Amino acid sequence: MKKILVATGGGDCPGLNAVIRGIVKRASQEKDWEVWGSYEALNGLMEEPTRLIRLDEKTVSGIHVTGGTILGTTNKGNPMSFPEKQPDGSIRTVNRIPWLVDRLKSKGFDVVINIGGDGSQAISQAMFEQGMPVVGVPKTIDNDLSSTDFTFGFQTAVQTATDSFDRLVTTANSHHRVMIMEVMGRNAGWIALYTAIAGGAEICLIPEIPYDLNKVLEKIKSRYNNGRGFVNIVIAEGAVAKDGTVTATKGELGRHAVRLGGVCFTLSEQLKEAGLEADVRETVLGHTQRGGTPVAFDRVIASVFGVKAMELALEGKFGHLVVLQNNDFTSVPIKEAISDYNFVNPKGTLVQAAKGLGISFGD
Ligand code: F6P
Repeated sequence: MKKILVATGGGDCPGLNAVIRGIVKRASQEKDWEVWGSYEALNGLMEEPTRLIRLDEKTVSGIHVTGGTILGTTNKGNPMSFPEKQPDGSIRTVNRIPWLVDRLKSKGFDVVINIGGDGSQAISQAMFEQGMPVVGVPKTIDNDLSSTDFTFGFQTAVQTATDSFDRLVTTANSHHRVMIMEVMGRNAGWIALYTAIAGGAEICLIPEIPYDLNKVLEKIKSRYNNGRGFVNIVIAEGAVAKDGTVTATKGELGRHAVRLGGVCFTLSEQLKEAGLEADVRETVLGHTQRGGTPVAFDRVIASVFGVKAMELALEGKFGHLVVLQNNDFTSVPIKEAISDYNFVNPKGTLVQAAKGLGISFGD
C-alpha cells in the first residue's frame, strides 16, 4: 500500500476542499493508494503526537461545495525557518526540512501533495530537493501566479466583491455619494480590475498603475457635473499613488510592501483634503472575499487540479505544480512556477477594454 499525505497551507481560499476531494476520489480508483491529511499545513505531521486523518470517499463526500478547508490551515510553523527553543531559553530559527523529510518517510509516506501559495510551494520545492516526492497545487484568491491562467478561489473572490459592489451602487445613487470599496489582492490588481469591469465602476485603482489624485478628482467631478451624482471606486489593497502617499505598510512581499485593509480610508482623506465636497464612504471587504462556497468555475478548476495532482503522483512526475494554461490542465516545475508573479499589464487588453468602458485608473 502506498501512502499520500495531503496538506493545505497559507491563507485559505474557496476551492481547497474540492481539490482534496479530487485527490481522494481519483486515488480511490487505484487499489494500492491510501490518502491521509495533515491538519494545519504540515504541522499535523510535525507535532508529537501527530494530527493526521485518513481521507476516504466518505470523508470527502460533498465537500467540494464548502468553503475553507477540512484540514485547517496556518501561516505558522514554516519548516524552512522553524522557531526552536535553545537550551539557554533563546529562540533560534532552524531549517527543519531534512528532519521533516525523514519524518515523512518514517511515517511511511511515499508522496506529499501540498496545496498552497508561493510560501507553501517554496516548502514543496525544498522537500523535493531533499529527496521527497512532492506534487504542488497552487492556491490563491489573488490570481498572481505566473504559471497558471487562473488560480481557484479568484472567481469566487471576484463574485463576492461584485455582489457587494452592486449593493454599494444603489446606496451611492440614493445618497449621491462617492463609495470607495477596498478589495484584496496583495500586490496584484486582478480582483479589483475584474470587479470594476463586472460591477461597472467609474474608477479602479490598482498597484500596477500608480494613480494621480488630480485625475481621480477630475473623474469624480465630471460625474457630478454631468448630473450623475454618484461615483463607485474599487481600490486594491496594494494601490499606490504616484506621489507615494498611499503606500502599503505591512510585509515585503512582491513589488510593494502590503498594507492590509485601510487604503480606502487614506484615499478618502486625500479626496477630502483636496477639497472634494461630496460625501465619501469607505468599505473594506476583507476576508469575506476568502470565505464561503466556491463558485462553479472555481469548483471545476479545483476539482480538476485535485485529480491531476493525483495523476502526477501515479505517473511519478514529482517536483511539479498542476496549472491551467491555455484552457488545458498541465504541470510545470515548482521551481519555475515560484520564480515569478503575474501582475496586471497596464498596457494589456483588459486594462484597455476597461478604459473603453469609461473606467478611470487615475493615470
Ligand atoms: O494572499 C491572499 C490574501 O487574502 C491577500 O489577498 C491578502 O493580502 C492576505 O492574503 C491576507 O492575509 P491574512 O489572512 O494573513 O490577513
